[in-house]
Amino acid sequence: MTERDVRLGTVQETLLIPLYGRAVENRKKEAVLRDAVAEELVAAIDYDFARFDGLPMLLGTVLRTSLFDRWVTDFLAEHPTGTVVEIGTGLNTRYERTDNGQARWFELDLPDVIELRRTFFTDTPRRTMIATSVTDKAWADTVAAQSGGPYLFAAEAVLPYLEEADVRDVIDLLADRFPGSLLALDTSGPGHFDTQDQPGSLGKVDARMQWSCADPARLAEWRPGVDVLASDTFSSLPAPMYDELPAPVQEMVTGLAAQRLPQVEDYRLNLVRLPRGSDGE
Ligand SMILES: C[S@@+](CC[C@H](N)C(=O)[O-])C[C@H]1O[C@@H](n2cnc3c(N)ncnc32)[C@H](O)[C@@H]1O
Repeated sequence: MTERDVRLGTVQETLLIPLYGRAVENRKKEAVLRDAVAEELVAAIDYDFARFDGLPMLLGTVLRTSLFDRWVTDFLAEHPTGTVVEIGTGLNTRYERTDNGQARWFELDLPDVIELRRTFFTDTPRRTMIATSVTDKAWADTVAAQSGGPYLFAAEAVLPYLEEADVRDVIDLLADRFPGSLLALDTSGPGHFDTQDQPGSLGKVDARMQWSCADPARLAEWRPGVDVLASDTFSSLPAPMYDELPAPVQEMVTGLAAQRLPQVEDYRLNLVRLPRGSDGE
């Protein structure tokens, strides 16, 4: 691949952290997940990735991605021709890791990210990139016009960067346009949110989270009928996932559970079902 010089906006730059996390993980003998494409992308991008070396959050991003992958895999097992919408897709490669050959995919992000993404990936009849802000409601028309659902929306490490009012609008948009759909999202409560300036957290980049959410049940206060199906932390991962982790990662997870660190306990990985429409959709 020829080397790409990346010029991304402030919040967009954050996509390089999980990308690098997956690339580093792929080099390990025993890994939480495999992602050879992430390694190729890192090699092709002219950026000082080494500044993220040693960040504990690198492994965190990999654990998060692995859990989101499981939710997508479970969804596609139940609905093989369903639709997965990656909100704030960055340079994620979930399609490469979890596609089943039948599902419909949309990958949405801000225009400069999609411009970069298009240098690596191409649209196909089942895979469409959308260059827009998730807060610009028109994208829902594009998705609805080109797919039939059922839908899973994966917003991995995206919504905390939005203002709370924008997150509410996104939840309303999804609930109005895609009732009964699944939404995977992470939430950052005060114990996590308030430490984001620390060097081990987002200190290496300029972007900062805007939306602090202590409890994903808050979504049901905004939008009655939202059902929180799962809400996990890095210290309490679902047993089937924990059981498959490499032994050193299991040890780390167990150690975290004993310490009950606020920055770990207050960062939640959630799967919610949006309210079903009045006709039971
Ligand atoms: C931490 S990265 C996560 C990328 C990807 N989900 C992953 O896990 O690898 C955050 C992503 O959210 C995107 N993002 C932030 N605000 C957005 C918005 N208003 N609309 C769409 N995407 C947005 C950024 O451009 C970036 O790609």
